[in-house]
Amino acid sequence: MAAPKKTTLKAPKPLVAGNWKMNGTTASLGEVKKLARALAKKKNKAKCEVMICPPATLLAPMKALKAKGVALGGQDCHAANSGAHTGDVSAAMLKDAGATAVILGHSERRADHLETDKQVKAKVGAAHGAGLLAIMCVGESLKQRKSGDTLKVVKAQLRGSLMDDCTAKNTVIAYEPVWAIGSGLTPTVEQVEEVHTALRKALVRRFGDEGAKMRILYGGSVKPANAAELMAVPNVNGTLVGGASLTAKDFGGIVKAYA
Ligand code: PGA
Repeated sequence: MAAPKKTTLKAPKPLVAGNWKMNGTTASLGEVKKLARALAKKKNKAKCEVMICPPATLLAPMKALKAKGVALGGQDCHAANSGAHTGDVSAAMLKDAGATAVILGHSERRADHLETDKQVKAKVGAAHGAGLLAIMCVGESLKQRKSGDTLKVVKAQLRGSLMDDCTAKNTVIAYEPVWAIGSGLTPTVEQVEEVHTALRKALVRRFGDEGAKMRILYGGSVKPANAAELMAVPNVNGTLVGGASLTAKDFGGIVKAYA
């Protein structure tokens, strides 16, 4: 009898991604060089992918640094490829400037620009169309957590913001409780595990094998001091880091959770 066909693909490495938000100018490029130098040291060899998502203005100058071991991502893209959309940036433009990924549906975009799941879903499609990895964010507000709606909220966001053909190769989920972002507050490891387990189950139900391998990042007040504990939680496959990604020292300290 012929051996059963192997259909399972290898799970991607964990991802540690830095979200610089609206911070950084060309004066900040030195931090990326420092980070690449630190990552190159043997004792820091991390078993994860490392990425920085700077403001779009810094993608091309960062690419020009050729910082080894540091991938680049955007922070948002328009759903269309090009056209009359003043101030917007398309997925193809991000790719052209050096990005291999883009954060989509971050809670700050959902709050500041009233982005809906439907719009986020269209952006995920645009990212895939341009060959970018979509890092799609979900997360509950403090009010929603307090009223016991966390799982309902994040599962609805997950359902509404992804299309059916997402794979582990082109999509990453980031769970970011809104109340933990930039606040210094983090959920307990039990709370993180509860949400990540629920997201994993929903992903497997919808995407099968691909859903089993899709990375689920935790984000919200991750620092060098709490990274190892959070990264050890089952179904946490990396992190999306805001404030602590702005300096090579702190971001490097977080990457060390995987060294
Ligand atoms: P923070 O932000 O690490 O500053 O809390 C995380 C994020 O918003 O991605």
